[in-house]
Amino acid sequence: MQSDIILQTRGLTKEFRGFVAVNNVDLSVRRGAIHALIGPNGAGKTTFFNLLTKFHAPTRGAILFDGIDITQEKPAQTARRGIVRSFQISAVFGQLSVLENVRVALQRRLGVDYCFWRAERSLEQLHHRVEELLDQVGLRTHLHTAAGDLPYGRKRTLEIATTLALEPELLLLDEPTQGMGHEDVDRIKHLIKAVSAGRTILMVEHNMKVVSDISDTITVLQRGEILAEGPYAEVAADPAVREAYMGAEDE
Ligand SMILES: Nc1ncnc2c1ncn2[C@@H]1O[C@H](COP(=O)(O)OP(=O)(O)OP(=O)(O)O)[C@@H](O)[C@H]1O
Ligand SMILES: [Mg+2]
Repeated sequence: MQSDIILQTRGLTKEFRGFVAVNNVDLSVRRGAIHALIGPNGAGKTTFFNLLTKFHAPTRGAILFDGIDITQEKPAQTARRGIVRSFQISAVFGQLSVLENVRVALQRRLGVDYCFWRAERSLEQLHHRVEELLDQVGLRTHLHTAAGDLPYGRKRTLEIATTLALEPELLLLDEPTQGMGHEDVDRIKHLIKAVSAGRTILMVEHNMKVVSDISDTITVLQRGEILAEGPYAEVAADPAVREAYMGAEDE
């Protein structure tokens, strides 16, 4: 039977020249959950993501995915297991159309040595899948717009579509609503909830409304360490958490 825990870190630590950015983190993410990772600026959230995707090698500790120790795996191996991230800063190809951006992502998943999409029928299937993905995120009407011409919120939406093209089992979102107005924030919130069906989401998010509305579990990081963990109401009432955030506001 598959375990209830899809991702687990044990004593995960990352030091940058003696500075401890992620410190001895034991985190368990439940399969199917929307799990939020919050904390003040510089708490180590993005670094933690970079460890999960193998952008950084940990100084110490282990990462287990589906119970398998993947700590030593290369980024591509880990991505193939279905751990896929989006970036804190939008990362779409501005000159390519919306359709092309998603198509490139799909082709990347299929692999460069895969001639699959060359056959005309496969190309059709590919386009069918592109349209499906763009439908899912509500970008179907922008098919031929250059990604660079999309308003910011839509760019981030497109970015989510390109990560979904990789069919992540564990989707890592780094501040998906950063820099957005209310309407876009709301749209992204609903989108995250919708795409969480059948997968697990670990997201870094500063917007507490988004966090409280859709997260099942929240982990608070402070100076690289877990400060608190639990459902929103519990974490929000935690005096240590309140102090961490006040402290951040005073800076
Ligand atoms: N490549 C690096 N080299 C040296 N220090 C780094 C590196 N990456 C991150 N850090 C440091 O590690 C700490 C954690 O940074 P990180 O980006 O993980 O924080 P964060 O929680 O994502 O913050 P934010 O909310 O501002 O995005 C910071 O002090 C940062 O300066
Ligand atoms: Mg960050």
